[in-house]
Amino acid sequence: MQQLLESLGLDQLNAGVCSAGHWHDTDGAPIITSTNPATGGNIASVQCATASDYEQVIAQAQDAFASWRMIPAPQRGDAVREIGNALRRHKDALGSLVTLEMGKIKSEGDGEVQEMIDIADFAVGQSRMLYGRTMHSERPLHRLYEQWHPLGVAAVISAFNFPVAVWSWNAFIAAICGNITIWKPSPKAPLCSIAVQKICNQALADAGYPQIFSLINSADQPLIENLVDDSRIALVSFTGSCAVGKEVGRRVAARMGKSLLELGGNNALIVDEHANMDLVIPAVTFGAVGTAGQRCTTTRRVLVHHSRVEELTKRLVSAYQQVRIGDPSDPDTLMGPIIDDNSVTRYQEAIQALQDQGAEILCGGNTIDRPGHFVEPAIVMAENEWPIVQRETFAPILYIIPCNSLDDALSKQNAVVQGLSSAIFTEHLAHAERFLSHAGSDCGIANVNVGTSGAEIGGAFGGEKETGGGREAGSDSWKAYMRRQTNTINWGKDLPLAQGVDFSIE
Ligand code: UN1
Repeated sequence: MQQLLESLGLDQLNAGVCSAGHWHDTDGAPIITSTNPATGGNIASVQCATASDYEQVIAQAQDAFASWRMIPAPQRGDAVREIGNALRRHKDALGSLVTLEMGKIKSEGDGEVQEMIDIADFAVGQSRMLYGRTMHSERPLHRLYEQWHPLGVAAVISAFNFPVAVWSWNAFIAAICGNITIWKPSPKAPLCSIAVQKICNQALADAGYPQIFSLINSADQPLIENLVDDSRIALVSFTGSCAVGKEVGRRVAARMGKSLLELGGNNALIVDEHANMDLVIPAVTFGAVGTAGQRCTTTRRVLVHHSRVEELTKRLVSAYQQVRIGDPSDPDTLMGPIIDDNSVTRYQEAIQALQDQGAEILCGGNTIDRPGHFVEPAIVMAENEWPIVQRETFAPILYIIPCNSLDDALSKQNAVVQGLSSAIFTEHLAHAERFLSHAGSDCGIANVNVGTSGAEIGGAFGGEKETGGGREAGSDSWKAYMRRQTNTINWGKDLPLAQGVDFSIE
């Protein structure tokens, strides 16, 4: 472990605040301890931000913005290319750190770093494609067009479950758009943020680019509220629960700021009477058990045609029995721990609520007696209307909900407040098309014969309803990090007014 930390420039006590490439080493700053969820042991400590650190970070970010926006976008893309290359070199170590601090298995830890590299590549290309439209003016000798300008300082508040990738979706796109990003990571994964910040600082410095990313580690509620309320921050991109996200959205809106919200999911996978069960079983198992059920895209509900229930549950229970649970750094492990004691308590409370409801638990439901925070992945026969099924429990609990028809499955799927990801498994073309139609899934992501989790970065990522409506990563998500300006230019000798209005002065 020591060797891994050293290879990423981490010590036993680390400064957790960085601005303009400078690490703040403030005496008396609050400390958080990073722990390994697989053992419960301490990894290292991190110094958090004081109120004066906070002010310095914001002031330096504003200064940095004034010059960064003057650098042409393709050059900003080149700076991100350098970072992507540095991430390629550190992929194995950073992936291992994600595993150590967050508890996801090594292949998923590496996958998360790959997601950073992918979005870096995407951002490089996008830096030459910040297109505005040109329209035909209704007035002679006039030109009408629109262009996109950077917003300024963006804050990214990220969650523990994707401690590096989600920041990079935001930060790399924000960077090519000309913004400066301030990162407030989860207090459950501070070392990942420090390691990433160091890699970026070094890559930018080596290539002669200015420092464009700042970091504020903090677990202090008033300081985080300040950040959300701070009108010097043009955009707050928040990933986390619906409850906290609603509060963030309200507060940012109150000061007319922009927010980008990526909140909870309650993702369903429909198995119709025509589904290929050989695809369903691995898709559901990865979707529900992968990352120990702690993705916002995790499969939480399987809406299965009654004719397929027996076959599905039999095969799924047998697949679950083959899931090797244990040390996430062991290449044979498929499921590591969940993040902390609170998370274990929420898992136990959910299982209790299901038992109180009279649910049949097909497998799992217990904590595992070993150091760290391990639970058994559970499969439960449930009803969609139960309050516990309507909520997102961030743990590996899967609900099997029998349905009578595609209509029934679709209405159940959409009868939750969240709207992130969804999937149908079917070989029936019309069922697939119905699911994808405007009368089908109401989610931001809708897949056919592909599970609910594990999206590629090329598409826009996000969801509807209480998931918050934000879109991050690929497609035209870059527009969220820019402001649009419409320009009309008159190159004639007259001043005609739009809509033919006559206001002539004799
Ligand atoms: C999240 O859980 O917040 O689609 C993000 C996926 C990943 C991202 C998940 N690419 O599951």
